Amino acid sequence: MKVYITRKIQPKAIKFLREKGFTVSVYPKDKPIPRNVLLKNIKNIDALIPLLTDKIDKEVIDKMSKCKIIANYAVGYENIDIEYAKKKNIIVTNTPDVLTDSTADLAMTLTLACTRRLFESRKLIDDKKFKHWKPDLLLGYEIKNKIFGIVGAGRIGEAVAKRAYAFGTKIIYNSLFINKKIEKKFGAKKVSLNKLLKTSDFVSLHVPSNKGTYHLLNKKNLNLLKKSAVLVNTSRGSIIDEDALVNVLQKKKIFSTGLDVYEHEPKIHPGLLKLENVVLAPHIGSATVEARTSMAMLAAKNVASVLKGNKPITPVL
Ligand code: DGY
Repeated sequence: MKVYITRKIQPKAIKFLREKGFTVSVYPKDKPIPRNVLLKNIKNIDALIPLLTDKIDKEVIDKMSKCKIIANYAVGYENIDIEYAKKKNIIVTNTPDVLTDSTADLAMTLTLACTRRLFESRKLIDDKKFKHWKPDLLLGYEIKNKIFGIVGAGRIGEAVAKRAYAFGTKIIYNSLFINKKIEKKFGAKKVSLNKLLKTSDFVSLHVPSNKGTYHLLNKKNLNLLKKSAVLVNTSRGSIIDEDALVNVLQKKKIFSTGLDVYEHEPKIHPGLLKLENVVLAPHIGSATVEARTSMAMLAAKNVASVLKGNKPITPVL
């Protein structure tokens, strides 16, 4: 049986699939697979492992008449038309859990980098402006005793709550459901989104990308944030209206923002690039050796399980 992988992933996963007896083909170039190449290579495959940058829509799904499983190499799966895949009896899986800690670590990294002005610090040194220690050089804020607002209390939101609690913050959250675990363990309180934005010193976003979360943070509610607030996004770029965000940053209506994801990824809003009170990362939330190896292995194990006639390990539906 044939498995097609749209980009070189960790060799351990490819080896695993080959040892299970599958014929594995990998798009060899170090760039996203062009659409025509994808469409050409998937005709007779039994399983597809795509990346979050590959749009798996009706046209792609229709080309794979034999395919039994699409095992996304990501926890997010907005790149796949899952309703259509379901209609065509194709199982879709993702990679939850294995990247939770890495992404939560990055959310905290961005929170700290923004709060302690790490990017401006490095720039000052590069610009040869560090002449002497001084009492008001690049003052940031302490984290302890502040209010940490988490939007989306799923796996990653929960892992961020654990970290924020360890830093001594009071945690509030907004979510579609009550997360009893973070309420009990970390004293987190569920509040409305507007209340969270108005009262938090730090806001970290952990909701999936869908119609309901598109521009969840927009012109209207970004203005509710405190002047000293730090806003961090490691989920998906579509959650924030970037024009509105650039506007509040330019007017210094918030202290800083840390972004790992962008509305028109990989394009970065030109306004963001001109600002010093932002910390930008190139979608590296899950970019640790541990997480990426586990993501590759989980995708491979989902494929092996389904092609051997068993249940998927982490189906999305
Ligand atoms: C995911 O898996 O959805 C992440 O964004 C990849 O880092």
